[in-house]
Amino acid sequence: MSGVEGAGDSGGMRVVAIDGPAGSGKTSVAQALAARLGLDYLDTGAMYRAVTFAVLRARGDPADRAFTAAVARTIDVRVTGEQVLVDGVDATVEIRGTPVDRAVSAVAANPEVRAEMVARQRDWARRRGGGVVEGRDIGTVVFPQADLKVYLRADPEVRALRRARQSGALDLGTGAGAVESVAADLARRDTIDSTRQAAPLSMASDAVVIDTTDQTFDETIEQILALL
Ligand code: DC
Repeated sequence: MSGVEGAGDSGGMRVVAIDGPAGSGKTSVAQALAARLGLDYLDTGAMYRAVTFAVLRARGDPADRAFTAAVARTIDVRVTGEQVLVDGVDATVEIRGTPVDRAVSAVAANPEVRAEMVARQRDWARRRGGGVVEGRDIGTVVFPQADLKVYLRADPEVRALRRARQSGALDLGTGAGAVESVAADLARRDTIDSTRQAAPLSMASDAVVIDTTDQTFDETIEQILALL
């Protein structure tokens, strides 16, 4: 570790990077790992969602690069436990809602937005001496020197079912239709996230790939702890 500031080097910090597509289990796995390791946890997807929320709230166009970049540079995002405050407004529920879900991939594809978020993510870890960080580009771009890089994957149907459960869509009695609609949304976001030019979702060459399709949550956690 050479300790080069801002170059993504984990320079003395303890960083665990958890990447993977939506619904692969990143959030619950990263939170549990952070608790087990006594590290802080950062959900970088929530940061891109917060920028998207602020853009929509200002009635901006998520495809307007200059505008979304300006929002990203000036936005104040505070995450306390589950609560997310965006410029002082409680956006905990709305950042997970359909309008943000639909627009977030376009915002996250903007290189200027990404540059600002990556700088904030590195700063976040530096202040804490590391952390468990989840996202799409953590092992490839944000912390290429992370102590451990995990890439979680799962079959698309399983990911859609998990997301539908999380969002409560299954409780609304819409059953298979709800899962299908979530699956279509996930597929659309996967395509944009993995084909964009700026830091697309991809696996670091030194990442450990874990397929959570048929694993229990505890099995996944134990496998990662064993790697550490
Ligand atoms: O993990 P999530 O579904 O909350 O992420 C929301 C969006 O943000 C998703 O479309 C991909 C994008 N994202 C990203 O581009 N880079 C990250 N490090 C984290 C999320």
